Amino acid sequence: MIYIAPSLLAADFANLESDVRRIADAGANYLHLDVMDGAFVPNISFGAPVIAALRPHSKLIFDVHLMINDPLRYIDDFVKAGADIITIHLESCQNVEKTLQYIRERDVRCALAISPATPVEQLLPYLSKIDMALIMTVVPGFGGQSLIPETLDKVRIVRRYADNMGLKLDIEVDGGLKAENVHLATEAGANVIVAGSAIFNSKRPREVMTAMRASAAEHPYRA
Ligand code: DX5
Ligand code: ZN
Repeated sequence: MIYIAPSLLAADFANLESDVRRIADAGANYLHLDVMDGAFVPNISFGAPVIAALRPHSKLIFDVHLMINDPLRYIDDFVKAGADIITIHLESCQNVEKTLQYIRERDVRCALAISPATPVEQLLPYLSKIDMALIMTVVPGFGGQSLIPETLDKVRIVRRYADNMGLKLDIEVDGGLKAENVHLATEAGANVIVAGSAIFNSKRPREVMTAMRASAAEHPYRA
């Protein structure tokens, strides 16, 4: 099953509640929440208070992507805000193992992300300890960029490795995804698709997501 996770970064920040309802009604599975601190990435987006404010208004799975330095300091805040999934970046942690464990102990799904410059080999040792791997398909920091095709090789390597280990792992891709290229990600083994501008900037988000699901179904992963 393919899960579609529209990224709030591309929503109308003056109308978050209605924008979230719009994409939920259009059939989104997750709400992807990009938290940026202006240090790990050059951009600043929003933090736990915005997520907490949206929580009572949505039943979507809140998929919180932390692009912040030393995320361990803030895990409790995002758990309290209502995160269902917390993703940390391998590059941002003083102690990756400890941070993942801290998330798991709080009954929240835990995920680990790598940026395009990070070799996939660094991610593999953690696969048995996470629910989801996030392979960034753009350099994190901004929405609306173009997908870097080479990053999809990492998806294939992670999917193969997880299958060989007998792990039931979700693989999320994030950045530059749209109905026209989503098949490249699903063919490589991704099953959670983040899309910001492609969905929120469309007047017909349901049609975009339907097209994404159809393309994904036509191009499943083949080992
Ligand atoms: C980039 C963010 C992405 C981004 C995706 O740092 O992690 O989630 O918002 O936006 P699009 O789909 O517009 O590339
Ligand atoms: Zn993201």
